[in-house]
Amino acid sequence: MGDAKDEHTPNVHLWMEGRTLVELRADQARPTHMPRGPAKRTGPGFLNPAMAPARTRSVLLLADALEHGWLVKPGDDLRALDAMCATGVRVRRWRREVPSQHQQRLRIAVNDLDTFALSWLERTHHRFSPPVQVKHAPEDDRYERPPNGRMVDGLFLMQQDARMALMEASYQWVDIDPFGSPVPFLDSAMQGLSRTAFLEVTATDTAALTGSSPSAQQRRYGARGIVDDWAHDDAVRVLLGLVATTAARHDRAIEPVLALFDGHHVRVSVLVRRSKERASDVLQSIGWRVRDPEGPDRFVQHPSKAERPRASGPMWTGPLWNETITARMTEARALELCAPTHQDIEAAKAHGLEWTDHDTEHARREIVRSVRCIAEASAVMSGPHRLHHVDALPNRAGTAHGPKLEALIQALRDLGHLAARVPDLDPFLATNAPYETVMETVRQLVGTRLENAQPNDGSTS
Ligand SMILES: C[S@@+](CC[C@H](N)C(=O)[O-])C[C@H]1O[C@@H](n2cnc3c(N)ncnc32)[C@H](O)[C@@H]1O
Repeated sequence: MGDAKDEHTPNVHLWMEGRTLVELRADQARPTHMPRGPAKRTGPGFLNPAMAPARTRSVLLLADALEHGWLVKPGDDLRALDAMCATGVRVRRWRREVPSQHQQRLRIAVNDLDTFALSWLERTHHRFSPPVQVKHAPEDDRYERPPNGRMVDGLFLMQQDARMALMEASYQWVDIDPFGSPVPFLDSAMQGLSRTAFLEVTATDTAALTGSSPSAQQRRYGARGIVDDWAHDDAVRVLLGLVATTAARHDRAIEPVLALFDGHHVRVSVLVRRSKERASDVLQSIGWRVRDPEGPDRFVQHPSKAERPRASGPMWTGPLWNETITARMTEARALELCAPTHQDIEAAKAHGLEWTDHDTEHARREIVRSVRCIAEASAVMSGPHRLHHVDALPNRAGTAHGPKLEALIQALRDLGHLAARVPDLDPFLATNAPYETVMETVRQLVGTRLENAQPNDGSTS
């Protein structure tokens, strides 16, 4: 049983992302669960299912900010802007999945240049209206001139270049999610932010960020990379480095809350505070990663001439996450906020969604995978640590094979160190244990040492 579509509704089929009913173009395949890379674009109205986990994390972070008061005081309104919203699935998820008790405090502005995408957003927002109706007028006082937009059922819709939209008002929560590099938007984003704000930046130009496209990396990020086991971490840190130095140019300092390499994109989420003093200290958190032929990699502020060939950077060398906030991003919390309930599914079926118990099970698994390892890694990722690619450990430790990652993590924790698996498709261990302790623990767990094993040269490219 489907509801009546008006004559302007394009040929679509329905899909649930999180607890939110979305329309997909008829020629877009039903997403396979947990897609691992960019799906094939099928034109205007295309929804990239590979970004669903990032949208889930965005719901969790926004709900956390409203609940725990780390961005605005409890009870105060929070002004959020999705500057490149496309068909608006992210903001529709904010409206549907952030707990209802916070909804009236959440003022959402959305923007995109694409007329087709905005009309898609408007249609689906009407067709599948969220359960809590948020009605507030455009707040004229927060705009420096009459805003070029209109209210649509609790969303303020704008259609302008994101660089203009970002400066229409001082937003406290800003999401930048362009096709490719976010570099052209960073300056306007910083200028538009309120004194204390939260900025989420997506970059899909991973070839530039990792250094596998060296000229693009040099042009956009002013960095040089080495494509080896640290390339994903370097990509995250190169983007954070640019966000930090851009912030500093606008007298602001950043504090990363979550920063991930997620398959085909990098996404960093940072608190940004206006502070000339702290902005002046930015270079203390910027440096280079130097590979060492005798053992561990390390960060230096400036590589020596001899180190240059083994160095990638400049990049952010400070902490990557906020421990308190990421510790709350548990699987249970993600399921509580974002897994479709029986009522959600029944209501969606009344609109025409085809959905089986198998879909429900897979949807839950996907929500869980969106936050897998985050809470467990919150402490180690929020302080100084070293990354070890698990596949490189036998070579480095001189053992015939590697230990089970879980066993290694437990052994390091038993020794009093922080250790966790990193949320990355590749198996990475993050730990604050000294390099030699990790190697010795590997040897003890595996119980064998290769005779005449040569020490690894520290570079696995
Ligand atoms: C990757 S999509 C955004 C996806 C969306 N945030 C989501 O989660 O579904 C990028 C969007 O940026 C828009 N866009 C590109 N350049 C823009 C600009 N200069 N100003 C405003 N929107 C822009 C495109 O129209 C497109 O809809």
